[in-house]
This record gives sequence, C-alpha cells and structure tokens, in this order.
Amino acid sequence: MTQRRILITAALPYANGPIHIGHLLEYIQTDIWSRFQKLRGHNAIFVCADDTHGTAITKSARAKDCTEEEFIAAMSEAHQRDFAGFQIEFDNYGSTHSPENREYCGQVWQALKDADLVSQRVVEQFYDVVTGESLPDRFIKGKCPKCEAPDQYGDNCDKCGHTYRATDVIDPISTVSGKPPKLGSAEHFFVNVERLHGFLDEWTQSGNHLQTEVANYLKGHFLGEELRDWDVSRPAPYFGFEIPATNNEHFWYVWFDAPIGYIASTRQWCDRHGEEIDAWWKNPETEIHHFLGKDITYFHTLFWPAMLKTAGLNLPTKVHIHGFVNVGGEKMSKSKGTFVMAETYLRHLDPAYLRYYYASKLGPRLEDLDLNLGEFITKVNSDLVGKVVNLASRSAKFLADDTLSVSYPDDGGLFQAGAEAGESIAAAYENCDYNAAMRKIMALADSANKYVEDREPWKLRKDEARQEELRDVCTVALNLFRQIVIYLAPVLPKLASQTAELLNTPITTWSEAQTPLMSVRVGRFQHMMKRIEEKQVHAMIEESKIEEPAESEFNDGPEALEKEPLAEECTIDDFVKVDMRVARVIEAEAVPEADKLLRLKLSLGGDVQRNVFAGIKAAYKPEDLVGRLVICCANLKPRKMRFGVSEGMVLASGGGGKEVFVLSPDDGAVPGQRVH
Ligand code: 2FM
Ligand code: ZN
Repeated sequence: MTQRRILITAALPYANGPIHIGHLLEYIQTDIWSRFQKLRGHNAIFVCADDTHGTAITKSARAKDCTEEEFIAAMSEAHQRDFAGFQIEFDNYGSTHSPENREYCGQVWQALKDADLVSQRVVEQFYDVVTGESLPDRFIKGKCPKCEAPDQYGDNCDKCGHTYRATDVIDPISTVSGKPPKLGSAEHFFVNVERLHGFLDEWTQSGNHLQTEVANYLKGHFLGEELRDWDVSRPAPYFGFEIPATNNEHFWYVWFDAPIGYIASTRQWCDRHGEEIDAWWKNPETEIHHFLGKDITYFHTLFWPAMLKTAGLNLPTKVHIHGFVNVGGEKMSKSKGTFVMAETYLRHLDPAYLRYYYASKLGPRLEDLDLNLGEFITKVNSDLVGKVVNLASRSAKFLADDTLSVSYPDDGGLFQAGAEAGESIAAAYENCDYNAAMRKIMALADSANKYVEDREPWKLRKDEARQEELRDVCTVALNLFRQIVIYLAPVLPKLASQTAELLNTPITTWSEAQTPLMSVRVGRFQHMMKRIEEKQVHAMIEESKIEEPAESEFNDGPEALEKEPLAEECTIDDFVKVDMRVARVIEAEAVPEADKLLRLKLSLGGDVQRNVFAGIKAAYKPEDLVGRLVICCANLKPRKMRFGVSEGMVLASGGGGKEVFVLSPDDGAVPGQRVH
C-alpha cells in the first residue's frame, strides 16, 4: 500500500466558551479518522487551533475584566485540557492570534489583491445606540429575511441555512444593549467571489470533494445565482489583525483569518519537525481533509476554496460535514441539563463511552445525531463491556503470568475470518461510515463470545488433565479479543494500550490484526472498563442543569420607559383618590378650532354623563370611537376650556400625535364600574 500524506483538520473552536458534548461529536469523529489513518501507516497529521478574533471575544474579556490576550490564553488552556480528557490527539494545537497566522493572512490577502479581487466601498452597518460601538453580525438578532424564523443571528439562519447581511434582518435587536440598533456607515473591503463562480461550480460539483447532499445544497442555494461580494473587513476597534496599509483603521473579519489558521497551525508543526510547509499546502499529492459542522458549510465550501485557489494553495481533497447533536430527540438544553460541558461529563463518565457511542451512530451522511441516554447506557454496557472487554476478562485470568500457546490452535476459522474482515472495516472507516465499522466489529465479537461460551474455559480450569486445552482456548479468545481491539483502536485508544500491556505487545499498525500472537507472556488482567450506572448519567445531567431565564417571545424594548421614567412612589391613599370608571363613548366629534382635540360624550350608565375634550384627533376618527368602552377619570375637577368645560379625562398611552392608544376594558365590563 502506498503511503499517503494526509492533512486533517477539525473546525477551530471559537475561544468564547467551553467545549461541550455538541462540539465533541466533531473532534471525536476527526480524531478517529486521524488515528485510523495513522494506524494504516499513512503520513497523517491532525492540526487544530483556537479561533480567537472578533468582537465577541472583546465583550467576554471586558466582562471578565481582563485583556483579550489573557482571555484567549485561558480559554485555549481549558479547550486543550478538555480535548486531552477525551483522548483527542492533535499533532499541533495553535491559535489564530499567532505570528504565523498573521503572516499567512498577509500572503493570502496579497494574492487576492494581485488577482484584482479586492475592492473597497462604504457599507451601511449597525451601531449600538447605547455603547456607540459597531455591531458585528453575531451581535444582531432578529427574524431571518428569508424564512422569517425568529431569533436568528445577523449572518445566517440556522433554520433555513440562508446567509444575509445583518441589515437585512427583520426587527433587528443589538444583543449588546437589547435595543434596536441604529444604522451608520463605514468603509469595508470586499472580495469579489463571483469572479470565481465558474471555478466553484466545477470544484463543488465534481471530484467527490463534498458529500452529495452538500454539493446539491450549494447548487440549489448559492451557485444558481450571482455570488455576493464577501465583506472581509471590520473597522477599528476590532480584536484581530489590522489589514496592512490601512493605517490601522481596518481589520480582517474573524472569518477571513480563521480558516487560514489551518495553515498557520500546520506551519507550527512543520517548524517543530523540520518539514517544509509547501509539502502540505502546495504539493498536489497531499490530501487535505476538513471536518466541520453543517452550520459553517458556506465558509468552507465557497470562500475557503476561492481563497486557496487564488493563493495557489492546495484545495481540500474532501470537506466532511456532519449534523448537529440532539439529546433525546430535542435540541441540547441548559435547563434540562442536556447541554453537557466536556468537563462535567468527565467528572462522571469515562470518555471511551462517548467515543464509542458517537462512533456507533456516525455515518457518512450529513444527518443530525440523536444522543439517546438510554441507548447510550445499553450500547456501551452490552457492546463494550458485555462483548469486548468480557472476552479478555473471561480468559486472561486463566493465563495470568503464563504464556499463550506456542502455535495458534484450531479455532474453526475465526481468526482468519476476522483478518479477512479487516479490509471492509477499513473501507468503512475511510468512508467515515463508523456505524458500519462498529457493526462489523461487533459481529466479530459475537462470534468470539460464542466460541468462549462453547469451550467453557472456566470448566477446563477445574480439570487438571485439560490445562493445555485451556491454554489453547484462552490463546484463541485473547487473540480474537486483540484483533477486535486493533480494529477498535481509532475509537478506543486507551483500550488498545491496556491490551498492549496485557499481552506485552504494542499495537502500532492495522496489519497486526492479520497475525495471531503466540508464546507471549500474559500479564495480570487489570480492570479495563466499568459498566455505566444509570445514576452516573443522572448525576451528570443534574449537574448540568442551569436555570435559564424564560425566553420572552415578545422582546419588548425599554424605549418607552426610558422616554418617560417611572413616577415617584405613591400611596394607596393617593391612588384611591383618583376615581376611574368604565364609560361608553356615546358621541364623538372633532373640535374644528383645535388641532388635537375631539369632543367626547361619555356615558357612565343611567343618565350620568361626562363631556370630555381628548387630545386624540390625530390618532382616531370620531366615528370609530362611538359605542366603544373606555376608561375615564371621573372625579377630575372640571376645567373650563375655550370650547366648553371638560369634565374628566380619557385614559390613553403613547407619546402623542398618531402615537396615542386609548385604553379599553375587556369584554364584559359595563359603564360605571370602578377601575381598581
Ligand atoms: O463556527 C465556529 O465555531 C468557528 N470558530 C469555526 C472556524 S473553522 C475555521 F474556519 F477556522
Ligand atoms: Zn431562515
């Protein structure tokens, strides 16, 4: 088999919050693929980094009263600790806030400029009305301009996947102050992606670079029409890299420098290993595999290839896109405790459980994955503990501090069948069909367990005359176990190292599953994996529960209160002095001499009436009011006006003019009733 050179990346996690079980799907998926390729003997490296720029980082740093640099340093440490806890093994973990990244951003930028793809123009953008700062797309929320889904960010809609400008959002709100933002204008730099339309048509629709559903989605949603210029800059102040020759007034937008972070992280690895970066990013023989979630498809399948193409760098061999994690069929929820942080998980459960569970559910398609907690417990207990580890625990103890048989015994063809399954299991891993790989491996475990049950080593143990037969049975069981563990090694690296220790033989390549071990010394069986107890999962969920403030669907702004702050406190005695009554409008007419006034005749029931002049002429037609119930202040001292005496007041809210809203009681109220 020829050795491939493979560069593998997972999306760079944003340095704005901790890693949770939703993120882990991708890092586990990628780590399995990376470990698989290495086990197959390929020259593979897995690089990643924290994605550190943007206004969201500034906001979080401010909240913690530290600098952005301090904030991202602490977050990077936390992310790496969580990844290590889940046995996710990067060959390099960098940061987009690195000198290497700044250098490559400059190179890609120059290439875009040399290709005459960059232009500058004034754009409208939102500013926060309270802080005055410019608002990045992610700081705007509102209704999607395409499907009208509420509560969407200002850059793209997670319901319909459409991307748009923040200024297109319906009923936008600044998440900084909760108020509608105000529009201003600023110079921005744009990349003319449309000029690469032909290339993107070709690249996305041919050559197996994308899953079919992704290629179709791009064709149907973006490539059928002109590609919009990509806005790649943000005006100062902005936490990021300043664009050269702009007098520190412009910074690259976080999504410009984030994917370039893949190159910068590779460069750090190269520097440590004495390799040339061009071997990874310019050699057409090198494969580049990006793993990422469906929400960031657009950036990686249109802009990123366009940037790479222009800069003369290798294009991705394949972009592998996965869906979201749901828990129990629902979106992960903080209040239900299903939004589980990596750190919390590790306090309660073995990372191997989640690695195996995700592997058993992941296929090559872009589908959401449902983490069903009941199924999680059953699968881990029955497959990993019941089928795999059990093979070793039932046989190793009979050969502790002893050796395997000197030649491989007759096992009825089981080991050979396992060896032959190796290539189809490998093909499933290669194709990211881990679900199929796990099923094939568990089928081998089923046959191996049947063998042990048929041969009953625990009975042989008791018969002095059959000790060599016992050795043979255990030799078979342990070899079948080891073969399975080699196939599972990309998913369960710890189990592989425990097995290597038990059988005094390292596991380093996939092909080791082709040859049984003989004569090797067997160690003392150490406990390998415990069953999951339901109460552990329960405790994890309980610890993850966070009271979420009930989300209001109404989103009322504070403007009205700000315009007219609350009055001074009054007593109940003050309140009862004002006698408010339900009244019916029985006559209404405009006062010709007054711009704002209508004259209303109100009935309080029986023959009690009030003549009232109300400043509602701009907002109401007299005929619309006749017959309506209103609330009036009935004991207000009569006031003599130019046109007559006003004997009360009709209650209304609003600032005046057309913005006046007359209050009415609910159905059932009758004139004369007091309002308490
Ligand atoms: O969506 C995200 O969380 C981004 N931080 C992913 C960046 S991936 C790459 F482009 F850097
Ligand atoms: Zn939408």
